Amino acid sequence: MQLISPTFSSMPELLGTSPAMSAVRHQVELAASAGMPVLITGESGTGKNVVAQNLHMLSGRRDRAFVQVNCPSLPHTLIESELFGYEQGAFTGANHTRNGKVEQAQNGTLFLDEIGDLDASVQAKLLQVLQDFRFSRLGGTEERVVDIWLICATHRNLQADIKAGRFRSDLYYRINVVSIELPSLRDHRSDVPLLLNHFLRHYELKFGRSLDPLSSSVRKLLESYHWPGNVRELENLVKRYVVLGTEQAIVEALNGSDTTSALSPFIPDSSLPLRIQTQRAVRVMERQIILRALNEHRWNRRKTAQSLDISYRALLYKIKDAGLPRLRQTGSGASSPEENQ
Ligand SMILES: Nc1ncnc2c1ncn2[C@@H]1O[C@H](COP(=O)(O)OP(=O)(O)O)[C@@H](O)[C@H]1O
Ligand SMILES: [Mg+2]
Repeated sequence: MQLISPTFSSMPELLGTSPAMSAVRHQVELAASAGMPVLITGESGTGKNVVAQNLHMLSGRRDRAFVQVNCPSLPHTLIESELFGYEQGAFTGANHTRNGKVEQAQNGTLFLDEIGDLDASVQAKLLQVLQDFRFSRLGGTEERVVDIWLICATHRNLQADIKAGRFRSDLYYRINVVSIELPSLRDHRSDVPLLLNHFLRHYELKFGRSLDPLSSSVRKLLESYHWPGNVRELENLVKRYVVLGTEQAIVEALNGSDTTSALSPFIPDSSLPLRIQTQRAVRVMERQIILRALNEHRWNRRKTAQSLDISYRALLYKIKDAGLPRLRQTGSGASSPEENQ
């Protein structure tokens, strides 16, 4: 939903010491002093909202309003009145005058989140305002000059949307004067330990709990995971771990219940002959090795097979035999797209 805050009590920290995240922080500082429209892009959960808040707090507008509009949540029939407000009697049901988000953000920052989800008619209306920086409330005659800093964010590839006719190129050039692209977490995995420790401390404090340090095998698993949900997924995972208190909660979430046994230790059963027990132990070990290699190669099975020095067919057989999912499981149930890279 929309959030209006005159200012933040504190600035959420944009963590990460990797070159990719250091570059982002540098860009944020430059953009905050330049004051030109900024477009923040990146997959879901990469920190676009954190960046928007940082931009505002580092800018000269930090003591003014920061008005966030979550574009997909606005029905397009309402967007005009939501953004620009209306005068009493402007339309049936307009019983009183109401100011819109643009007016609320006057002299401050207007953050249009997920702008790529705006439908075409709304894009046109927004473009009008950005072209002459003037607007009036619906049903109003007074023209108001807009003094807002526009920050937009989207997880979508707007260039592709423009090619496909889903996003107006003229609007794109208005909003994308400065662009900040956030890296996917899998592209700056070196930040995983730092983020992990940060969220562990944060949630231990929040929930008043103190847990044993994570085992090195779980840490390694986290460091090689492909993080389809990026930092948000990591944060949620840590929260769950702190609440549930078992590493199994992490392992299950990363691999799906189907693959949990891949990391459970082999438990000897002395009632069985040595030969059977050894066979079982080897199978458990092999499953772990394959799963780790798959995660390291983002479930690209050709690369995984090469790294394990077995044929592609042999790997497919072993994946099936070990009861591993055929393709990478992601939050949305999508499968690995990287097979042919
Ligand atoms: N670099 C980062 N440092 C600290 N926290 C982060 C970082 N990136 C994301 N987060 C956290 O992850 C969650 C998702 O971030 P958010 O900004 O909402 O992502 P997005 O808008 O890209 O979907 C938030 O709780 C945020 O605090
Ligand atoms: Mg967001």
